[in-house]
Amino acid sequence: QPYIVILAGGLGAKLWPESRHSKPKQFLDLLGTGRTLLQMTYDRFLPKFSKDRFLVITTKKYLNLVKEQLPELDEQQILLEPIRRNTAASLGLVAYLIRKLDPDAEVIVSPSDQVVFNETAFFGVLDVALQASRIGHRLVTVGIQPHSPETGYGYIQYLEGTTDPVKKVKTFTEKPDLALAQTFLESGDFLWNSGIFIWKNESFIRAIELHMPEMAEVFEEGDPYFEGPEEAAFLRKAYSLIKNISVNAGILVKSDDVYVVTGNFGWSDLGTWRTLFEFKNKNHGSNVAEGHALLFDAENCFVKAGPNRLVVVQGLKDYLVADSENVVLICKIEEENRFREFLNGAKDKG
Ligand code: GDD
Ligand code: MG
Repeated sequence: QPYIVILAGGLGAKLWPESRHSKPKQFLDLLGTGRTLLQMTYDRFLPKFSKDRFLVITTKKYLNLVKEQLPELDEQQILLEPIRRNTAASLGLVAYLIRKLDPDAEVIVSPSDQVVFNETAFFGVLDVALQASRIGHRLVTVGIQPHSPETGYGYIQYLEGTTDPVKKVKTFTEKPDLALAQTFLESGDFLWNSGIFIWKNESFIRAIELHMPEMAEVFEEGDPYFEGPEEAAFLRKAYSLIKNISVNAGILVKSDDVYVVTGNFGWSDLGTWRTLFEFKNKNHGSNVAEGHALLFDAENCFVKAGPNRLVVVQGLKDYLVADSENVVLICKIEEENRFREFLNGAKDKG
């Protein structure tokens, strides 16, 4: 059975102020199902993979959140990074740990901040991807058929000319601007990068050796997983040396052994208020009202009242009102990704 590696150390910054440094997106129950995105990720894999194959990697800061939300896991299944160093480091660390546990291991990597609607189709895709990953040193990605020019995703272009569902990857483009995303959408050979990866652990380590040899050196030199104070010291030093780069940019872009399988299982990373708004049931005419909110003459608004507050809105159209414990964001839904710019100079950005 493969290891299920769940990445859970990101910030989910685009959903500010609901997603905060102290409690990012993956730890929130964004859909109101009673389960957080991290828990939904765990639930998704659980029917097919045994509990002891799961590894969650996050930064120290979120240990308590992971323990609270996934009490089923043993403490050894929660891997802690001393600081946030992006996903190449996270997956590198996990790979060298897994090598010690099982040199022939297969790995499925999953982000913890997305939803999948058709789980049967999802497992079908994973099967195809696992088969494909057993050939040579293939690194297999899962691509999603795009239906809009999203700028919050990475795009994978595949090589055409085969009916094989497993296609060789031609290019990766991380978060293009709108015009480029539009071109990708029209061109037909581009998929969204789901961030779900499937490989033999040794294939990935080989790719690290080839494309991030400095990271290979750091992890080969140490023995990150013994108990005791030396472990913390080793990891702190290792993380100060490793490049801050995503696995896409650090490894996948550079490797020519990368393949993609298309997943049509209904997927979203609910990355922005706008995508979240699209997914929600419009429970108040054309609006979504959550928490203690009263709407009058509102149209296409997403109003989320925070705890202990009544929010009353009148006469707004296409607006987001996101009220959280100590921050209120009021802006056009279409412009919500500009909050960083709005916040220039503000103190409490986290
Ligand atoms: N442990 C750990 N450490 N996890 C991390 C770190 C880190 O330093 N940084 C990010 N993560 C986790 C996040 O919690 C998330 O589950 C996953 O890794 C992906 O990181 P994001 O920060 O959410 O990336 P993104 O959404 O901007 O972009 C990625 O995902 C998109 C799909 O959701 C890219 O892979 C895009 O190409 C892709 O389209
Ligand atoms: Mg994300």
